[in-house]
Amino acid sequence: MNARQPSFYVRNVPVYGDLILAPMDGFSDLPFRLICREYGSAMSYTEFTSCDAILRGARPALRQLDYHPAEKPQVVFQIFDSDEDRIVAAAQKIERLGPDIIDLNMGCWVSSVSGRGAGAGLLRDPQKVARIFSRLSKAVKVPVTAKIRLGWDARSRNYLEIARILEDNGAALIAVHGRTRDQGYKGVADWDAIAEVKQAVRIPVIGNGDVKTVADIARIKAHTGCDGVMIGRAAIGNPWIFQRKDRHEVSVEDVIALLKRHLQAMLDYYGAYGLVLFRKHAVKYMYGLPHVAALRAQLVTCDSVSEFHDLVDAFYERYKRGQLPDAAYLEEPAEEAIEWSCDRAALACA
Ligand SMILES: Cc1cc2nc3c(=O)[nH]c(=O)nc-3n(C[C@H](O)[C@H](O)[C@H](O)COP(=O)(O)O)c2cc1C
Repeated sequence: MNARQPSFYVRNVPVYGDLILAPMDGFSDLPFRLICREYGSAMSYTEFTSCDAILRGARPALRQLDYHPAEKPQVVFQIFDSDEDRIVAAAQKIERLGPDIIDLNMGCWVSSVSGRGAGAGLLRDPQKVARIFSRLSKAVKVPVTAKIRLGWDARSRNYLEIARILEDNGAALIAVHGRTRDQGYKGVADWDAIAEVKQAVRIPVIGNGDVKTVADIARIKAHTGCDGVMIGRAAIGNPWIFQRKDRHEVSVEDVIALLKRHLQAMLDYYGAYGLVLFRKHAVKYMYGLPHVAALRAQLVTCDSVSEFHDLVDAFYERYKRGQLPDAAYLEEPAEEAIEWSCDRAALACA
């Protein structure tokens, strides 16, 4: 793999490929990241992790920073906080765990985070951003990066000011989700703004927001000139997007095989509770499979691994015997997909 030329560098860190799984709380854990890396995601962003929890040594927080050697040297630990001292101290503490990059979340819109001045809340205080990055870039040896939104609201779209401040104060890459904090997931991601950021700085820029299909990848690249494309919701239940394959091009066999492999990886990593944690992935793997509504309902309530396998195997047998009326790809209702993701995001971040 490394015989290839890097697509871009994050200071000295080579990145081989231009598609990247987005950090997603509750999703971009070690098992899912490994699958996405295997399918072509070029970097490994952890779920966002609270600096306060890191400094307290809270086990669940530190566990979010687990990584596999195969993810090196593109392991990105993402942290969030509003307090400058805590951000610097937490970055120094986790640097010892061996990440290749440390990323500061400046995009989380959920009020419990942004309302306290963390996540997208940082966008309201550009001078603080300058101080944080000036200190961070000296306090740790690894490159420091940021993932931003376009601003707090429509009246304060200060992404260009923030991008320049980040670059001037030592940030080595900026990932841009083309929405303001106020928008949450509403409206359409503004790719023009991402293009402006790309024009304004010399460090690499990753474009993010509303990339749902392989065609969208080419579109956002052409539109923005970004160095990499970050994919979030559309990668859940669909790591094939990193192979530049749309879901309707993936066979039912392949979906079932990966569904089972992903479940096993969750069980290996989390123990028996992995089954419960896997439900939200299972639902997304199901989208697009023919006549799957009943199976989906059963899978999200089933609490035994053998029953889970039995249900999936029975479905697959019926599919192979042609007992499912029509195996044609059924388009996932877009509304349903988006609503589901937003429910989850409301609990988490962005
Ligand atoms: C369930 C969920 C959890 C998320 N958690 C994070 C997070 O921990 N850190 C972060 O920077 N962004 C987080 N995001 C935002 C995504 O990284 C991404 O910016 C956003 O979903 C837009 O990209 P998309 O249109 O490809 O989904 C989250 C999004 C979702 C849907």
